[in-house]
Amino acid sequence: MAEYRTESLRGIKEFLRFRKSPLTLLRSIASRGVDILQIAAGKRQIFFVNHPSLIRDVLVTHDWNFIKGPGLRASKPLFGSGLLTSEGELHRRQRRLAQPAFHSARLVEYAREIVEMGTATSRDWSDGQEIVVDREMMQLTLQIVGRTLFTADVLHEARDIGTAVTRALHHFRQLNSPLIQASQFLRLWAGLRARQSRLRFEGLLSRIITDHREHPDRYNDMLSLLMASDDETGTGYMSDELLLDEALTIFLAGHETTANALTWTWYLLARHPEVEQKLHEEIEQVLQGRRPAPEDVLKLRYTGEIFREALRLYPPAWIIGREAVTGYRLGTIEVPAGSTLLMSPYAMHRDPRFWNSPESFVPERWDDPLAANRPKFAFFPFGAGTRVCIGEHFAVSEGVLLMAVIAQQWRLHLVPGQEIAPEPHITLRPRHSIHMRIERHPGTKTPVS
Ligand code: HEM
Repeated sequence: MAEYRTESLRGIKEFLRFRKSPLTLLRSIASRGVDILQIAAGKRQIFFVNHPSLIRDVLVTHDWNFIKGPGLRASKPLFGSGLLTSEGELHRRQRRLAQPAFHSARLVEYAREIVEMGTATSRDWSDGQEIVVDREMMQLTLQIVGRTLFTADVLHEARDIGTAVTRALHHFRQLNSPLIQASQFLRLWAGLRARQSRLRFEGLLSRIITDHREHPDRYNDMLSLLMASDDETGTGYMSDELLLDEALTIFLAGHETTANALTWTWYLLARHPEVEQKLHEEIEQVLQGRRPAPEDVLKLRYTGEIFREALRLYPPAWIIGREAVTGYRLGTIEVPAGSTLLMSPYAMHRDPRFWNSPESFVPERWDDPLAANRPKFAFFPFGAGTRVCIGEHFAVSEGVLLMAVIAQQWRLHLVPGQEIAPEPHITLRPRHSIHMRIERHPGTKTPVS
């Protein structure tokens, strides 16, 4: 049996220390090559799992032994029983229904819309303008998910929804706070506030759902796929409530993560002009001034490597939690039923056992033939197994296409004097907004049509 390096921390103080600055602990586990870190806080047992084979065992091989962790379960007032939080038969059924919306033929259609919306956004920018890049990316990806999966134009609502997302994330954090978890009253209060932030989305989504119900012939999107299901079975299984949960989950999961990935990409590019230069060269060589087409996603190889490298350093889903349903043998350790297991792409992606110069931004590492020898689960920004991200291919093609349409016209420079650091909410966001000054790329004096 393989030997795994194990450490343990005891006491509520250690637990609170982790809660206060989780990224510090995760970096320390990664840099010291710890495979399993056990934190025992009162009755609560938490295991950090930081080895590719053990991660594979939990997420894939023995996935039947786990349910989602307490963090996501606590967010039920927000997400209801959507794909992200549901379990068992309900999850299997909903996933089967939503899956066709992510098939490759659909992705080709979405790619055209993505390019159109990316072009429209960057057409509104002007030379020398200062933008708040995280906000721009959030509004853009929100519009994209609205148009592609719900045939809805949320342009005018994007700003309000952006604010509602920030508020919802705040409530998510509150729901997860050990202090609030310890008191039934505070739990109820936090749940109520989370439900209130959900109301903002419900208003928008209810309008979209009603229109789909009244004019089914007009739509051929993910929402119509989900809706068609209740006619098919006649079970009334897909209630309006569940439909709303699914729509809300996809809306949130489908734009927040990609927006963060792109924000970190622009930040890293601005700090590495030599990489940015190569990006522009590839775009010019592959596109020669025309707009990208769906098939360019594969041709824009270096662009894809930059996006992947940004996902490595700043994985939006920085932590993935599970709860053991029955007792489980993790390497050489017996994990009691009810324990929480945490796997962190943020830690694993920075582990020097699997990455050379792990803290450096080196997109070229993805082109190195030796990369093929790296264990598969040393890189898992989209999770794995039956709960792997349903939008993985959507997100990658969205990332590459938006990078191409934007970089084709613009260079983004960091406004000096900002303190930029990642903040681990439900996703890994920048702690403060990132301000960037945009400059028209000299290669494209005239905007591409
Ligand atoms: C860079 C962008 C993205 C990242 C890093 C990301 C990451 C993840 C991860 C790690 C999970 C698994 C969570 C777990 O195992 O507990 C997940 C699940 C999910 N993601 Fe994504 N995601 C991204 C984009 C998207 C997009 C674009 C969509 C939809 C349009 C989406 C929809 C979902 C849904 C519905 C689930 C739940 C799947 C299930 O449990 O069956 N995600 N995502």
